[in-house]
Amino acid sequence: MSTHARPRVFSGIQPTGGIHIGNYLGAIKGWVARQDEKENYFCIVDLHALTVPQDPAALREQVWMMTALLLAAGLDPARCTLFVQSHVRAHAEACWLLNCITPLGWLQRMTQYKDKSARHETVLTGLLDYPVLMAGDILLYDTDEVPVGEDQKQHVELARDIAGRFNHHHGDFFTLPRAVIPEIGARIMGLDDPTAKMSKSLAHVEGHAIRLLDPPKAIERALKRAVTDSGREIRFSDAPEKAGVNNLLAIYKAITGRSAAEVEDDFATARGYGDLKQRVADVVVAELAPLQARYAQYRADPAELERCLARGAAQAAAVAEPKLAALKARMGLVVPVGG
Ligand code: TYM
Repeated sequence: MSTHARPRVFSGIQPTGGIHIGNYLGAIKGWVARQDEKENYFCIVDLHALTVPQDPAALREQVWMMTALLLAAGLDPARCTLFVQSHVRAHAEACWLLNCITPLGWLQRMTQYKDKSARHETVLTGLLDYPVLMAGDILLYDTDEVPVGEDQKQHVELARDIAGRFNHHHGDFFTLPRAVIPEIGARIMGLDDPTAKMSKSLAHVEGHAIRLLDPPKAIERALKRAVTDSGREIRFSDAPEKAGVNNLLAIYKAITGRSAAEVEDDFATARGYGDLKQRVADVVVAELAPLQARYAQYRADPAELERCLARGAAQAAAVAEPKLAALKARMGLVVPVGG
């Protein structure tokens, strides 16, 4: 039951871990490109980051880094609302309310929960509840579209299921959101293991990822070491043994915006994988250089970052707070005068 003039877009990113080219191509680049077409809300999800243990000082620092990085990547506060999740209290409150209508079994079958919980000795309750907090993020804004990489699709579908269940029990209330996955770049694989996705938690491992703030030499080094195969053919392919080459071509294609045929044409005269790696490195370095320069400028102006986040939080709260109040009322809570 969306009633907005322009489709509403909501997406989020955790401030922690090494932000890599997968996050950029799977999500951020698309957010930046479509700012004019939609009404956009982008959220730095610090509450989600707390679902695994964090060092408090490092977490705070990473929120500032992420703010500068998103602005440097091209998010424009005049055309989108950029804010930090914990600055808008409605998110944590909505999570509780939605917890009370979400069957436990829905959360236990989330693949990301199963993967992450297997890696931690103590599994925190927040890790299981993570998708409900995410559903609250999305549903508070009557979101139509959620641009994410492939790995978040299941969580967006869960948000849609929670909205549907709520509407069924309490009458039409939530807009049903849908995931918008980029055609290319939705699943960038690890350079050291092209059978597993590039991951923030492994971004510090030498040769795994290209991080957005890596200097050109480090980018070239990581790409030179990228796992390929013993052949010479530079073509898009689903064959398991070509996963490495396919991943490099996907990075090249997502950055240049060229068609698959044009990309293959670009490499028709390449002399083997060494050439491929060098040319991928060239386009990645060229794409990231201006971002890195702007990042340094934003980091030098902390007051501007603070102002930007304060403005973003006020704009987000203006949408989320009334929705939360209506949600509480719909669930039978007594809403106090003025709130
Ligand atoms: P996060 O911080 O893990 O990732 C941010 C975005 O990057 C995408 N991504 C990738 N895309 C392509 N290839 C990869 N290897 C790759 N790795 C990550 C993710 O799909 C994501 O779009 N739970 C979310 C944050 C969140 C959120 C939300 C998103 C919280 N609330 C509401 C949308 C709507 C997360 O942890 O993303």
